[in-house]
Amino acid sequence: MKWERRLEKKFSKFPLEVKERYAEEFDHYLKSNDHGLPHAANVYGKVLEILDRFSVEEIREMDIDIERLEAMCIFHDAGRFLVPVESAPNYAKRKRKGQILHEYAGALLAEIFGYNHPIIREGILRHDYFSQDFDPGKKPPVSIEAQIIRAADKTSVDPADEIERYDEYRRKFKFPLFNRDTPTEFRLDWNFSFKRDSRTDQLCYFFAVLALRPENFIHPVLQEYYRDWSQQKKEAVDKILEIVRKDQGDGAADIVDCQIAAYLKARGISF
Ligand SMILES: [Fe+2]
Ligand SMILES: [Fe+2]
Repeated sequence: MKWERRLEKKFSKFPLEVKERYAEEFDHYLKSNDHGLPHAANVYGKVLEILDRFSVEEIREMDIDIERLEAMCIFHDAGRFLVPVESAPNYAKRKRKGQILHEYAGALLAEIFGYNHPIIREGILRHDYFSQDFDPGKKPPVSIEAQIIRAADKTSVDPADEIERYDEYRRKFKFPLFNRDTPTEFRLDWNFSFKRDSRTDQLCYFFAVLALRPENFIHPVLQEYYRDWSQQKKEAVDKILEIVRKDQGDGAADIVDCQIAAYLKARGISF
C-alpha cells in the first residue's frame, strides 16, 4: 500500500534521537486496540464489508476510491498518537495540552504523508460525528466516502466488543465508570458538549452507543448496514452490566440495569 511505503520513507529520514522519541508512541499506535493500528485494520475490514453492499456500477457512479478510504482508515485516529512534532512543533505542543482535536492532528498527518485530497480531509475531520442529538452544532460527513468511514468506525467490532473498546480507553484515563448521583434525566439529555460536566461518567458514553439509530446515517445502504450491526446491541447491554458488576459489584449492576431499561424506554428504543 502507498501509505506504508510513504510511512517507511518518512520514518527512515528522521534523525536517531527523533526516531527514539517516536518509537514509544509508534509502538503504542501499533498495539493499541482502542484507537491504534488494530482498530484501523478493523475499520478497513468494515469498509470492505460496506462496499460489498454496493454494486460495481454504484461504486463507479459515486466515484468511490479505495485508496482514499485506506488513507482515512489509517489516519482517522492516528492523530491520537503520532503527533507530528518535527513538522509542526507548536501544533504538537497544543495537542499535548488537549487544545487540538485528534481529527485535526490526523488530517495534518495524512497531509504530511501526501494525502491531501479534500474528501480524505473531510472523512478524517468528521469521522467521529455521532448524531444531531449527541453532537449539536457539528456537521455530519457529506461525501459518500466520509459517510462510509463514519459508519465503519462506529461498527469496527461487534457491539459488545465496542463497549469493551470504550472501556479500555476509559481505564487508560482512569475516568469514572458509574456515578450513582447522576440522574437519569441528565443521561437522557446528555450530549458530547457535557464531556467535562462532573455528572458525566462512562455510562453516558455507553448509552450513546445504545442510542444511535440507523436513521442517523444518511445513505440507505448505510442505514441498513447499521441496522444489521445493531441486532447485537443486547449483547452490548450485557457487557455494560458485566463491566459495572466487575468494577462496583452486583448492587450497582442492578441499578444500572434499571437505568438502561428506563433510558431505552424513554428514547423508544428496543432490541
Ligand atoms: Fe476518532
Ligand atoms: Fe476510530
